Parts: sequence; C-alpha cells; structure tokens
Amino acid sequence: MPTPRKPTARIFRGTPRNLAFLARSLRAGDLVGVPTETVYGLAADALNPIACKKIFAAKGRPATDPLIVHIHSLDQLAQIAIPNPAALKLAKKFWPGPLTLILPKTDVVPAIVSAGLPSVAVRMPAHPLFRRLLKLTARPLAAPSANLFGYISPTTAEHVRAGLGRRISYILEGGPADLGLESTILDLRNPARPRLLRPGSISREALARALGRPIAWRGRHVSPSAEAQISPGLLLRHYSPRTPLVLHQRLALSSAQLSGLDEAWLFIARPRGRLRKNIFWLDARGDLRGAAKRLFAQLRALDGAGFRRIHAERASGEGPAEAINDRLTRASAR
Ligand code: TXA
Ligand code: MG
Repeated sequence: MPTPRKPTARIFRGTPRNLAFLARSLRAGDLVGVPTETVYGLAADALNPIACKKIFAAKGRPATDPLIVHIHSLDQLAQIAIPNPAALKLAKKFWPGPLTLILPKTDVVPAIVSAGLPSVAVRMPAHPLFRRLLKLTARPLAAPSANLFGYISPTTAEHVRAGLGRRISYILEGGPADLGLESTILDLRNPARPRLLRPGSISREALARALGRPIAWRGRHVSPSAEAQISPGLLLRHYSPRTPLVLHQRLALSSAQLSGLDEAWLFIARPRGRLRKNIFWLDARGDLRGAAKRLFAQLRALDGAGFRRIHAERASGEGPAEAINDRLTRASAR
C-alpha cells in the first residue's frame, strides 16, 4: 500500500472569516505562515512555550537561535520588554516597520523564545494583514522567517509552502513582500552604545541620525563568526542556495558571454550588450530597493534552474547596499 502523503499547507486569503479562524488557531497553539513587509514569517503565540517549540521543529532551527517577537501596540512592548527612551524614540519614528530592537526582556517571555538570553528581539510589523491578525489574536507573536533553517528566506506564500508545506497547516496570503529583506536589528540593551546586528532596509545612517549618535557595526573589524556569538542566529553561512554561489566585486558582461550556459550570472542592474539566457539582473536600472526586493526570489529561481554555479556581484553605495551585500556574503559562504 502506498504511504499516504501528508497534506500540504492551505493558503488562506485575508478575509475577515479566515483571519478570525487563523487568530483562533494561533491562540490554540498552532503555527501560521504570515506575510510581513520584509519576508514571510512562521508565527506562534509568543507567550506559549509549547507553541514556540513547534517553530524550531518545523524549521529545523537550533534552540540556540532566538526568535523575534512581533507586537501590535506599545502596550505589548511594555508587556514583553523593558524599553528605554532611545527605544521609544526609534519606535515612534520607525514603527510599524522593518526595525527590530533588542531590549531586556520581562518574565512573561518564555526562555525558549529568547534562547535563554535575558534580552528579547521586538518589532512592530507594517503589513496590514499581519497587523489585523496580531490585533485579533491579542497576543505578541514570535516569528522567524518561514524558511527551512539556513535556506533562502521566503518572500511569497508559495515560497513558504514549497519549504514548509508538509510541516505546517496554515499560511496567510499577503502578496509578494514589499521590501524582500529581513528587518534591521539594533541592539539597544545599552542605549549609550547602540549596535547594529543585522543591516536591513532602515539604514545604519538613518538610525544614527534619529539617535544622534554613531552606530557600530562589525564592518571590517569583527568577523561574522565572532558576531554570531553576540547574536546567536547570525551565522556566517545562511540564506544559502544549494547551488554554489560565487560573489564578485563586479561582474563583467564579457565573462558572462564567454562562460558555459550551465553557469548563471546575476547582475545588480541590466548589463548593456549582448544578453544570453544565463544572464540575469535584479533591477533593470540598478535601483537598490528594487534589487533588495527581488534578491531572494531570484536566488530561489536560479537555485531551481539546474545551474552548476551562480556568479553574483556586490551592490555599491549606502543604505540597502549594506543589507544586500550582507545577505550575498552569507549566501556565498561554504
Ligand atoms: O524581518 C524580519 O525580521 C523577519 C520577519 C518575519 O519579521 N524575521 C526574521 O527572523 O528575520 P529570523 O529568526 O530569521 O532572524 C532573527 C534573528 C536571530 O537569528 C538572531 O540573530 C536575532 O534575530 N535575535 C533574536 N533575538 C535576539 C536576542 N535576544 N539577542 C540578539 N539577537 C537576537
Ligand atoms: Mg531567518
């Protein structure tokens, strides 16, 4: 007798009825794949340790990698974290939005959420459907990106189903993610020494301006592996396609034209000249917001296309370039 195949997750449109059903499911301890403006997340009631444990099992994520807790209101911030004036200032300016703050946690946050750390990562997401779901659930929701551990983050509901479809039951459809890269993470445990842990759409410069002080990042001085000890989930190898990815400072169209068709060439902007079917770009005009939005979906598509190798080039400039290069560096690590 053939073994019965596990049913695959159902994708729900965001109707009032569906949202009410998904909110009840979350309150009952189930997992739901949710859209956010950055990437799709895998949500559970952050105050329910048994529900949060299922997140780690579904993703194959090590228990040493803490989760981000998503909130609907500043009341919920005070429930789970101990904010300082700098945090409130940034919350006022950038929330709802793609900024995660690391703050001392309160006792209601289960140890499994923070991987045993005395701090918690908090963010107020902007996606309207996720906000409605948060409001209906009336609980803070823990949610990492909804991908198998180490793989490319999902920016559509279909990406979530492709990776986790046989491990979870429910996904909320919210369209392709607006920004396409995970939130900026800022360590504000000590507001006198804010530290960037993960670059994202909100740039380090914008945060420094808002706080009126410079913000440290590892830059060239601290290796990503040393950094991983401060923020346990920031592993050097991450966001990785199965196809080897080689990162270049710049790609030359001439090399792409000479290479075998079994190697893919991923430019930031559309190169000018003779194009072949192994030549790709992230944004026709090289706009970095557009490039960030397309990056993960393009890497997934190339990973599924049977190429032997993917060549990619670094982005140059400020703002999103730092975030794009961070993800490409990790994706290329072996
Ligand atoms: O945009 C995002 O942030 C998405 C969406 C779903 O909100 N979420 C996301 O979660 O990217 P995840 O789990 O893939 O990355 C969260 C990272 C962890 O890997 C860890 O490095 C850091 O946040 N983190 C969480 N709690 C922390 C803590 N208490 N101290 C330091 N770093 C922490
Ligand atoms: Mg992730």
